Amino acid sequence: MEIFDRAAAAQAQAAASDQRRVLVPTMGALHRGHLELVRMARQSAGDQAEVVVSIFVNPLQFEPGSDFERYPRPAAHDEELLREAGVDVLYRPGPDEMYAADRSVYVEETSLSETLCGRSRPGHFRGVCTVVAKLFNLLAPEAAVFGEKDFQQLAIIRRMVRDLDFPIEIIGAPIVREEDGLALSSRNQYLSAEERAQATILSAACAKARDMTQRGEKSGERLLEAARTVLAEAPLARIDYVEIVNAETLRPITHIEAPARFALAVFFGKTRLIDNIALA
Ligand code: PAJ
Repeated sequence: MEIFDRAAAAQAQAAASDQRRVLVPTMGALHRGHLELVRMARQSAGDQAEVVVSIFVNPLQFEPGSDFERYPRPAAHDEELLREAGVDVLYRPGPDEMYAADRSVYVEETSLSETLCGRSRPGHFRGVCTVVAKLFNLLAPEAAVFGEKDFQQLAIIRRMVRDLDFPIEIIGAPIVREEDGLALSSRNQYLSAEERAQATILSAACAKARDMTQRGEKSGERLLEAARTVLAEAPLARIDYVEIVNAETLRPITHIEAPARFALAVFFGKTRLIDNIALA
């Protein structure tokens, strides 16, 4: 595995490569969810191609007062996992390598970012789009893999690629979960034992909405009410949002018809967890 921490060197390697390249952008603190993206990247790339992973804890996408400082950064362990997974190139820029101190250009998506997490995290998706656009320019992949765990992020990246003509195929990867249903996340390690035990209600609420839909329920209001009842079983949970949206526009819908997505964000203390599921 080749490792670069300088933009110029990573860009030169990308420019010299004549192989198909598939990128998996991450913020590190890698878990099985990230490794599933790497597996899909390899599958899409084929044996001859290069799988490229980036690790960068992007300050631009953390709102003031959030967990940027304490976000886990287990560099050596991450590196080992990526070697074992057969990754070809790791781009891991230092904190000052990505942005000029007097930076003044951003990439902002202005429609899909208005709902769901965009409402609770102002500026978050602007930070995500800006860093992902930079990674696309630097690392020049033919394809990039993103997880459905961050469903809104995936939709926004697809929109950015379409609207700005990036010649990059975006591949969506299904959510990887713990055995009890909790979606894997680098932030799960912030949870106390009690919070961790109660955190299963996110996936339980998703499953409830999905089961009811499969049994014919079409009313968004009844589905949301049932999901809130499930969430109420966890006394430590504080709901940020629970919504059903059109999976393409991300606008709320009241009557279930394809493509519908159930999505929620829940706080346990300061830790904010998200989950989502396709309803139709
Ligand atoms: P990060 O949270 O590290 O996630 C990196 C990628 O892994 C994202 O595409 C995310 O959706 C995916 N992922 C995380 N947990 C997953 C799970 N349980 N199942 C499937 N996929 C999962 O998302 C980011 O970093 C950043 O916003 C980034 C895109 C790197 C830009 O900074």
